[in-house]
Amino acid sequence: MGQIKKIAVLTSGGDSPGMNAALRAVVRKAIHENIKVMGIMRGYEGLINNDFVPLSSKSVGNIIQRGGTILKTARSEKFRTVEGRKQAYENLLKNKCGAMIVIGGDGTFKGARIFIEEHNFPIVGLPGTIDNDLYGTDMTIGFDTALNTVIEAVDKIRDTAASHERIFFIEVMGRDAGFIALRSGIACGAEAVLVPEVHTDLEALHKRLTNYMSKKKTSSIILVAEGDDAGGAFQIKEQMKSYGGEFDMKVTVLGHIQRGGSPTAYDRYLASRLGVASIEALLDDQRSIMVGMINKEVVHVPFNQTIKHHKEIDQQLLKVVDILNS
Ligand code: F6P
Repeated sequence: MGQIKKIAVLTSGGDSPGMNAALRAVVRKAIHENIKVMGIMRGYEGLINNDFVPLSSKSVGNIIQRGGTILKTARSEKFRTVEGRKQAYENLLKNKCGAMIVIGGDGTFKGARIFIEEHNFPIVGLPGTIDNDLYGTDMTIGFDTALNTVIEAVDKIRDTAASHERIFFIEVMGRDAGFIALRSGIACGAEAVLVPEVHTDLEALHKRLTNYMSKKKTSSIILVAEGDDAGGAFQIKEQMKSYGGEFDMKVTVLGHIQRGGSPTAYDRYLASRLGVASIEALLDDQRSIMVGMINKEVVHVPFNQTIKHHKEIDQQLLKVVDILNS
């Protein structure tokens, strides 16, 4: 990327813990390579509104441990239009930026790919989403922190569930993907995990809970991904009533608590490694890729691939949940 002297960086879509750590690594590695950095506020929205701020090594100090994103984030409708993207391109030229780093999820990369096609502008992406639903990386930045947030909450709920002999339906994030539900479900010993990728048979679930009760297991935790085909946790609880039984059932929706908090050691490490790798990728003339980590190695995955391929949950892990409750 020889002649590029200045780059832009933004965070977009749902925030995730570790985005700040990624930003810090991008800025400091770029400065180390004598590249200036402009931060863009509020993702693609700020790009269109020309909301650029110069970033120094100091401006990303003391943020590695902070959740959220100091650049703020947004889901931009304007960037979905040809005119919006044209304005964005003009602003990048106006600010003399020769490349851009985007930190976000699937929607962020889809926007980046169209932009590259239209304006032939180099962009490298970093996977930042709690959902872990991006093809081309074992883990996304923020997933590990979200899992830890979930298990901390579930452990607390289990105390009261056990004391009152109740069944709790706990809803976690995941509109289209069950990664959070499945991984945290195993980590907190959930009695059942319901995910969007697998049809939920409520009658079978009811039988299973009845069976647990007959084995004198008087409380249960059911983790429900918000996008489950049987509905959210409240709906599932209501439907379960129709199968009868004497269950005392409660619902907790963990919601946006899963998106905040100080990133875990793993998320800070992943964000730092990938942040540095994103600048190395630009220096290596990469123009349309996401940097990810597979089997502990940094990989470059073309945006086309991350967008085309759907990352699948390991359905064998649902069997692990069953076995550990048998
Ligand atoms: O994409 C991350 C995510 O946290 C999803 O799991 C969730 O469904 C969605 O964002 C919620 O988005 P918002 O905060 O915009 O309502």
